[in-house]
Amino acid sequence: MSRQAPPPRHSRLATRLAKGGVDAVVVGGRAVNPPVVRASTVLFDTMGDLNEARRRRATERMFTYGARGNPTGFALEDVVAGLEGGYRTRLFPTGLAAISMVFLAYVRPGDHVLIADCVYQPVRHFVETFLKPWGVHVTFFRADGSDADAHITARTKMIYIEAPGSLVYEMCDIPALADLAHRHGALLVADNTWGSGVQCRPLMLGADISVMAATKYLSGHSDVMMGTVTTTQDVWQTLSTMADAQGAAVSPDDAYLVLRGTRTLSARLQMHECHAMEVVHWLNGLPDVARVFCLALPTDPGHELWRRDCLGTNGLVSFEFANATPAQADRFVDSLTLFGIGASWGGFESLATVSNVAGTRTCEDWSSAGPIVRLHIGLEDPQDLIDDLAAAFETVFGG
Ligand SMILES: Cc1ncc(COP(=O)(O)O)c(C=O)c1O
Repeated sequence: MSRQAPPPRHSRLATRLAKGGVDAVVVGGRAVNPPVVRASTVLFDTMGDLNEARRRRATERMFTYGARGNPTGFALEDVVAGLEGGYRTRLFPTGLAAISMVFLAYVRPGDHVLIADCVYQPVRHFVETFLKPWGVHVTFFRADGSDADAHITARTKMIYIEAPGSLVYEMCDIPALADLAHRHGALLVADNTWGSGVQCRPLMLGADISVMAATKYLSGHSDVMMGTVTTTQDVWQTLSTMADAQGAAVSPDDAYLVLRGTRTLSARLQMHECHAMEVVHWLNGLPDVARVFCLALPTDPGHELWRRDCLGTNGLVSFEFANATPAQADRFVDSLTLFGIGASWGGFESLATVSNVAGTRTCEDWSSAGPIVRLHIGLEDPQDLIDDLAAAFETVFGG
């Protein structure tokens, strides 16, 4: 007899409360979306089934305990693995947790890693507070990848890139860096948050591992944190084993929110891109603007690589003031009424921040650049956003 059989009617109240309702029979159709399966404990019909699941879970996806994933998260993993064109995906509570897990899984004290200069700034913090004290040797290389081969050594185990970077969108040659890494027995890891598996797919370009902050476009609504790691089949087991060893898991409610976001990801990105391009064309050539950073502009240094390797852009647009003090840049952002002042982009809403590019680079000197504002162009009407930007220019720099 199944362990889940309904208790006899004469059970006492406390037993009925504990056992009732778990096996409700649903007659009729089915919901569009997979259910949110909340679980720590997972039940099996027999000890044999439990032992079998325990035996197989090291190498197969098995629902055995909430800390090892849940069916809602598994559904999201499948969507992300498909987006990235990878073998499988694991989910992590934040994008940064996903990134740190990649280093923990694949490098060891004494190893050397090469990291692109344009990485998300907290990756540098992780390098300084954990990787270096742990004994890993780290060299930063130019964001466009041009000096990576000069720094690679026999001890290099990983080249880590963010392509494009997410402040001024430097593009590197992903296939060439994959080739360089593989010739030296190293892995190429890409932070693909900018591309979100839609505009860029590093695994299809030769990378071994792709990481995304699902917090951004995948979720798309600024209300949930998550990170994803997707790998090729060859390197999968190392990641999966380390994620299990560290108890990395996400809640099914968060997985549900991100899964819901992915349903509209492609449509939202098209709209973000389209709105952002209107703003780019308007900003480009303004007397108060020295440079607009956008890979879709033929003048952008990464334009040709972007055209070759990416399918489009997104809502991120940065620009450098022609002649402004840091205080004026702050005032410009403060004057905007439709843009939130915030850093975590990828939601439906527009954002603005003053970016500290000079302070987050060690290979290139950005100290002579004017203040740089990063905009995230959301789904609002682009003409309203342009009017808001025009009013802010007027407020700070006059007519
Ligand atoms: C490019 C990039 N990678 C990773 C992260 C980290 O993601 P999370 O904020 O979910 O930790 C961010 C967050 O801003 C990011 O912009």
